[in-house]
Amino acid sequence: MKQHISKRLLIGGNWKMNGTREASTLMLNDLVTAFEPLTESVDAAVFVPFPYLQHCGNLIRGSGLLLGAQQVSAEANGAFTGQVSAEMLLDMGVKILIIGHSECRQLLAESDELIGEKVAISVSTGLSVMLCVGETWQERQAGHAEAVCRRQISAALKGIHLDHMGAIQIAYEPIWAIGTGRSATPQDASISHASLRKDIEELYDPALAAATRILYGGSVNPANATSLFAQPEIQGALVGGASLKAADFASILRSASQATSSRPN
Ligand code: 13P
Repeated sequence: MKQHISKRLLIGGNWKMNGTREASTLMLNDLVTAFEPLTESVDAAVFVPFPYLQHCGNLIRGSGLLLGAQQVSAEANGAFTGQVSAEMLLDMGVKILIIGHSECRQLLAESDELIGEKVAISVSTGLSVMLCVGETWQERQAGHAEAVCRRQISAALKGIHLDHMGAIQIAYEPIWAIGTGRSATPQDASISHASLRKDIEELYDPALAAATRILYGGSVNPANATSLFAQPEIQGALVGGASLKAADFASILRSASQATSSRPN
């Protein structure tokens, strides 16, 4: 029997290392207004740089927008200069964290094992996680995309109990599509999502796999969002560049809202 796939979309705006306090204020004032009529049909999060967490948290309070952070330490506390713990982020009102972004895997040499430790401490602290996976262009060309994603997701979810899986969403972000303007086609993204869902099914069970939201990330913009969201396997988007313009991000949110409404129950 076909399991019910989660219907409600989630859109995340990953600001990366961009913005100022003033730009964040302007952005979020517009976004709160744009999100107001959409709160019933779509979930949304903004992943802001650490220094602006408190400021942004104040701006979005009561709006339904979720406050997100882009990094976390795998350690609980102690002599780890420059690191920030899950407990601290929770304390600051953060609800959801990006873990395993390819920029952190590549630039900070984060290993699959370290990412697994970060996921574990985050969910046990009570935070939701946006776990990013995705292959390079070379890996895709060699026919290894699905195996790479399977390796990444298996390592990241190792030791995560079924009871904590409700706090985890997956973002499929093919590295070749990030910041390049070259999005995966809706069909290719859908195939990768189905493969990831099969991996979750094998690690857990079909009901949980169906209930887990799998988002697509990589050059999502107002022009391609609707066609991506027309694929039932795609339960939202993690948006980089286009999340830095309130009008573009709001347009993507509206596409997601329409997709949620047109999906069968
Ligand atoms: P772009 O939308 O700029 O391609 O970035 C995607 C991304 O990395 C989101 O985490």
